[in-house]
This record gives sequence, C-alpha cells and structure tokens, in this order.
Amino acid sequence: MSKITAAITAVNGYVPDYVLDNKELEAMIDTTDEWIITRTGIKERRILKGEGQGSSVMGAAAVRGLCEKRGISPEEIDLLICCTVTADYIFPATANIITDKIGAKNAFGFDINAACSGFIYGLVTGSKFIESGSHKKVVVVGVDKMSAIVDYEDRTTCIIFGDGGGAVLLEPDENGFGIKDSILRSDGSGFKHLNQKAGGSAYPPTLETVKNREHYARQEGKAVFKFAVTNMADVSAEIMEKNNLSSDDIAWLVPHQANKRIIDATARRMGVSDEKVMLNIEKYGNTTAGTIPLCLWEWENQLKKGDNIILAAFGGGFTWGSIWIKWAYNS
Ligand code: UT7
Repeated sequence: MSKITAAITAVNGYVPDYVLDNKELEAMIDTTDEWIITRTGIKERRILKGEGQGSSVMGAAAVRGLCEKRGISPEEIDLLICCTVTADYIFPATANIITDKIGAKNAFGFDINAACSGFIYGLVTGSKFIESGSHKKVVVVGVDKMSAIVDYEDRTTCIIFGDGGGAVLLEPDENGFGIKDSILRSDGSGFKHLNQKAGGSAYPPTLETVKNREHYARQEGKAVFKFAVTNMADVSAEIMEKNNLSSDDIAWLVPHQANKRIIDATARRMGVSDEKVMLNIEKYGNTTAGTIPLCLWEWENQLKKGDNIILAAFGGGFTWGSIWIKWAYNS
C-alpha cells in the first residue's frame, strides 16, 4: 500500500467587515500613513466589532464555508484544531466552541498556541492524524482577534495587527500530494521580546495589572524583526535544500504577513521572485495565526495541482518553521 499523505482539499477564509485604515490610526496615535506603509507595507486591517464576539465567530464562519465548498457536513469532521493566541476564553478551548457552533458533533478538538506560527504548527499536527490513518477529515483553523489584545495607545504595536483567519480541510492522499515535509522550531528565550504579561497563571488579573495595561501584547519591534528576518529566511532555505528544491521548482511562497520587509528578505534568500510571493499584508495587516490560511484562500484559484508551495512563519515564543506542500487540486 502506498504511503498516506495529508492533502489540503479545501480552503476558506473570513475577515470582519470593519476596515481600520492608516488614516483612522493617524487620528488615534502619533503616526502617519506614510510611516506605516514604508516600515510595514500595511494600509488597512479588519476589526471584529461587537460585545461577546470572539475569535470563534470568525473561525466558525470560515469552517462553515469550508464544509460548503467541499460539499461535506460538519458531522463528517473527525478533528478540529484551532490555532490562536486570542482564544475566546482561557478555557475551554476555542476549538470546542467552534465545533459546537457549527454542529461538528463527531469531532474532538483542541487549541494550539504558537502565535504567528500557530497555523503551521497546527497543519503539521493535523497531518499526523491523517498520515497515521486514524482520522480522515481534519480541519485546521488559524484565527486571531488581535484587536482584543492590542493597546491602541502603543503606536509601535497597534499599527501592525488586525483580525481575521481561515481554515483548511486535510484528507488522506495516496498519490504523493499534500504535506511533504516540515521544519518546526521554537526558542522560549524569545519570551522577553514579545508577550502578553498578565492574565495567565503567572500574573492573574488584578486591578493593578489592568491599570498597568499588562493585558496587552507587547513587543520590542526591532529585536523581533531581527530574529524574524534571520530565522524565517533560514528555515525556508533549509527546507528547499533538504528536499533538493531549486527556486524554479517553487510555484509559491506563502509567508506569514508581519512586515513586508521580512517577507522580501525571505523571498530573496530563497531566490524566489516577487510574483511567486503571496502578499496581502496591505489589506489585512498581521492577523497572527490567520495570515497563512487567508493567503491560501485568496490565491486558491491560482493554485494548480502539483504546485510546490512553501509556507513559512515566525512569531511569539519564539516559534518558527516552514512546510513544503505539493498542492492537491485545481479549483
Ligand atoms: O508577527 C510576529 C512578530 N512581529 C513582527 O515580526 C514584527 C517585527 N517588527 C517590525 O515589524 C518593526 O520593528 C516595527 C514595524 C514594529 C517597527 O519598525 P522599525 O523600523 O523597527 O521601527 P523602530 O521600532 O526602530 O522605530 C524607528 C522610529 C522610532 O523613532 P526614533 O527613536 O528613531 O525617533 C520610533 O519611535 O520610528 C518611531 N515609530 C513610529 N513612528 C511613527 C515607531 N512606531 C511608529 C509609528 N509611527 N507607528
């Protein structure tokens, strides 16, 4: 019997309607449209408004559409993995909330917290359930409502992030399509450069933590930038070398969308030209675990069966990695 690989067989995305553009940010903080575009490539981002509206709202919408596209019932899903740093609640897992919302009664689910690398961690995890033969339909959701943890008084951080996400369906393939290889890494010493200090068990919420604005994401942008540029580029080049892939073999690079300059450096290192790089940071900013599925969703119609695609991400933790996929279908 031939080896089972995990193939992506459908993709869907979801972004909320509200557009927060650079002009609106200019009125909120000391910044300019020109600074933001030059330093990050971002023009606007989406924001999920409304009380009680968490990441699961976007995740559920993405998965409902995913099932419709593939023509399956949510009850056919065996496992749903939700990758997010903005879970609806500390517990239960947002995956459980999504499965309940969509009626995926036969799925078990759990969350993965790997920040901006969440989706690639989730995709590799999900693929193992398919490759082992134990599960036939695995959904991986990457979604974040970053507006819930962004301090809109902190100009070094709030300009980057937005809300949104997407989902993919993984199914078994016996013809060599799907996830071919992956490299995942982490380094917890990166904690100090990018974190949300309070709200967990180390610093539970108190009046003091709220007063000190410690429930927001903080980053030392320059330090994170330096680590991101090096590691995302290295790991993307490494997966190519490991699998004897030349830049001509690569149809698409799907990079995490944190900063256009980081993406450009990664593409240069891989020798991949701009036309092969999925880039939608301009419209959505950094949606953390949402960026890669949002790109796949937007470019799905241009992907061809057999295309070699490299996914690459870097984020809080630090976490980073790359995945080589042989695309499994024509839309
Ligand atoms: O997604 C996962 C992880 N996150 C990342 O990968 C983000 C990585 N970091 C970055 O993308 C960039 O570091 C930022 C976009 C966050 C910042 O860009 P930078 O080019 O590294 O700027 P900087 O922090 O070195 O600041 C340069 C100057 C400073 O002014 P002085 O000290 O030179 O006078 C900042 O105060 O730009 C100033 N500045 C701003 N000016 C206008 C910082 N933020 C802003 C702003 N508008 N929003």
